[in-house]
Amino acid sequence: MNQGGVVARVRTAILISGRGSNMTALLAAAADPAYPAEIVLVLSNRADADGLAHAASGGIPTAIIPSRGRDRATFEHAIEDELARHDVALIALAGFMRVLGEGFVTRWQGRMVNIHPSLLPAFPGLDTHARALAAGVARHGCTVHLVSAGVDEGPVLAQASVPVLADDTPQSLGARVLAAEHRLYPATLAMLARRLANPLPALSPLPKTPSKT
Ligand code: GRF
Repeated sequence: MNQGGVVARVRTAILISGRGSNMTALLAAAADPAYPAEIVLVLSNRADADGLAHAASGGIPTAIIPSRGRDRATFEHAIEDELARHDVALIALAGFMRVLGEGFVTRWQGRMVNIHPSLLPAFPGLDTHARALAAGVARHGCTVHLVSAGVDEGPVLAQASVPVLADDTPQSLGARVLAAEHRLYPATLAMLARRLANPLPALSPLPKTPSKT
């Protein structure tokens, strides 16, 4: 909070590649001016991502940076340019289907989060719901984690679990997990934004060691 009592909001970009239902959940939460992250950009690597139209209809600036047909360095440089143009300080990956390179990830370390549809470290990668069913787990869920160079390996910030039911299909289980994602991601992004905006104050100095008598 600044001196006028106004909450300082962390300028945040959401990166998507498709449907954008997690993006929609984040935008809904951030519509509250008291939410600690302000969504200033929705960026997609695909022009046909459904989420783009939803973001634009809510007045959120959008950008398309195509990944196809260009090398990773050029792609990531174009993303960095767009992020800089919007003065972005925090990135939320929400169904962004490109692996970002080590240089990009290192630059944004601690300021880039992702949501993954499993209870990591279980089931990194794709097809998590079918794999959870095949493994016979009793509970499945989702994870919000900081992004590190290893895919789906970064430090876990929060998880939500759901039961696996006897008659579940990957679709029914996936829908249950997705509903949990839509609750978990806004809450966790808020926690991180608050932490970034309000770093821990320094500890007060240690009292002097009492002198021995
Ligand atoms: C979600 O299941 C998310 O966990 C994963 O990709 C999916 C994206 O869905 N990373 P949506 O685009 O947010 O609807």
